[in-house]
Amino acid sequence: MVFKERASRARGVVADNRLMELHLYPGNQCNRDCDFCTVFGTPKGWYTDYTAEHLDATLNSVMLHAAGAIKFYGGEPTLNHDNVMWAITYLREHGFQGAIVIYSNGIQADRLLAILASDPLDKTTASLNYSIATGDGAPQMPLSSLRKLEAHEQAQPGTIAIGHPDIVDSGRGVDPFTGEETRPKDTHRCPHCYPVLKTDGTFHACPFAVENADPHFQLGTVQDSPKIVTQNFQTFLNWIDTVHEPYAIANDLPACTVCWKHLEDLAPPTYAQSEKVQA
Ligand SMILES: C[S@@+](CC[C@H](N)C(=O)[O-])C[C@H]1O[C@@H](n2cnc3c(N)ncnc32)[C@H](O)[C@@H]1O
Ligand code: SF4
Ligand code: SF4
Repeated sequence: MVFKERASRARGVVADNRLMELHLYPGNQCNRDCDFCTVFGTPKGWYTDYTAEHLDATLNSVMLHAAGAIKFYGGEPTLNHDNVMWAITYLREHGFQGAIVIYSNGIQADRLLAILASDPLDKTTASLNYSIATGDGAPQMPLSSLRKLEAHEQAQPGTIAIGHPDIVDSGRGVDPFTGEETRPKDTHRCPHCYPVLKTDGTFHACPFAVENADPHFQLGTVQDSPKIVTQNFQTFLNWIDTVHEPYAIANDLPACTVCWKHLEDLAPPTYAQSEKVQA
């Protein structure tokens, strides 16, 4: 395997009302419809472009220095690569110095490579869908695409990684999943992901559950101050540790199954609201 997995970074890091990482999500439109997809990716999915308003909210809520990271996912980012490249340029022109990661199924390899090449700081990398890169659990990407991406990684090591093989019970979830039995699926412990800014202008607490509209995940909107959004994210993580995980253990359920199928048993976290961004 040419592509390497990346080590996870520290979770839940917030300083000066800024998140160390933020995911950006423009909808679940995709050129695949994987049977395990946590966001219900499909060609008929929804999609809305990134705008200056979303990116300004991003720049106000993520660390701008080298330790910060912005992660584009979806859906499939290469379907709207012009908007992604515009967004990367905007973020760089407005002072974002950190890492940018594009989560992609790699099928449109030329477009993915064009996105990586568009970053003036040359700090945009890709993370490939494990199943589509390997053919374990989903039809493999065309070999012509795979070879281009492998050649790029060999020429510039570290620029194209492979995602984790784990499948969590969220969205279409684990039941129809046909991949290797040995791939880990069950844990009572939430991985404490960083939140998501969606192009509908809302901050959602979890990239895996981003299509789940339950109030438990609603951290605020682009109209709220970064202080409120980051405080609500910390409230969410505290709720995960003190309410969600004990419930998962007591009922012997995987963590994501609790979010997906049992939230009606759990009162939402108590979130701060409505301190608007100063004009
Ligand atoms: C939702 S996809 C979006 C980006 C792109 N379409 C892709 O597949 O990489 C982002 C990542 O989520 C992973 N993913 C999807 N469903 C999952 C599940 N049920 N459990 C764990 N990871 C999942 C994919 O493998 C991919 O690495
Ligand atoms: S995992 Fe990625 S490629 Fe598969 S359907 Fe979901 S968004 Fe599309
Ligand atoms: S346990 Fe819930 S919050 Fe944590 S990753 Fe799974 S769906 Fe997201």
